[in-house]
Amino acid sequence: MRRKLAAGNWKMNGTREDLAQIDAMLQAHGACRCDLLICPPATLVQAACDRARGSTLMIGGQDCHDQPQGAHTGDISADMLADAGARAVILGHSERRQNHGERNETVRAKTAQAWQAGLMAVVCVGETEADRDAANTLDIVGGQLAGSIPDAATGANLVVAYEPVWAIGTGRVASLDQIGEVHDFIRGRLERRFGTGVGRSVRLLYGGSVKPDNAAQIFGVSNVDGALVGGASLTARDFSPIVAALDAST
Ligand code: 13P
Repeated sequence: MRRKLAAGNWKMNGTREDLAQIDAMLQAHGACRCDLLICPPATLVQAACDRARGSTLMIGGQDCHDQPQGAHTGDISADMLADAGARAVILGHSERRQNHGERNETVRAKTAQAWQAGLMAVVCVGETEADRDAANTLDIVGGQLAGSIPDAATGANLVVAYEPVWAIGTGRVASLDQIGEVHDFIRGRLERRFGTGVGRSVRLLYGGSVKPDNAAQIFGVSNVDGALVGGASLTARDFSPIVAALDAST
């Protein structure tokens, strides 16, 4: 059985005062049967880890470099995240793919670094609106999956997040049929490549305008094992009902 996972991506939001939201999430979800992950900006990773130590809430990074160390000004290695206490890292988010020109090969190398450092990689895939309009969604997602994930995937070291680019931060959530089609497709591809045992154990998250009022429906879709939440993960007030909906779906 796959454990459900509610993950929050704070993106470039949050200063020390927002650590109070982590405290509130810890208080609210001590008895939750799901895994919880919050990925704050890099400046808050260590402090968030100190707060969450000994709890079921994992803290993660939002990116890491594809090399273990060296002359890469401004970048963060997977080892550095692990050293700060992080347990996971988001990789290949569409905002990195689009704004930083990250290609599948780079995401694959970053994922290998994450695994080397003992981090769980949350690898993001998803089509643009133009891809979907051209009926290329499954081709794009299939190509991203094949290119972005190294061979040593397991249910413990890999989570795949399907985030249609047009649904991120727009309030336009994908329909339940669209989510189901892509998640079933991803499951099939993972089983084909890694074998049914591993393929069935990797958790698949939906991301893109997940909110308290649509979460329960999304969690009812086949092969949806949780969510990667942006805006609604910034406060415990918004994130908690999403976690509760996921817990209720287990
Ligand atoms: P929103 O939930 O704000 O649409 O962001 C989704 C996302 O990009 C999470 O990684």
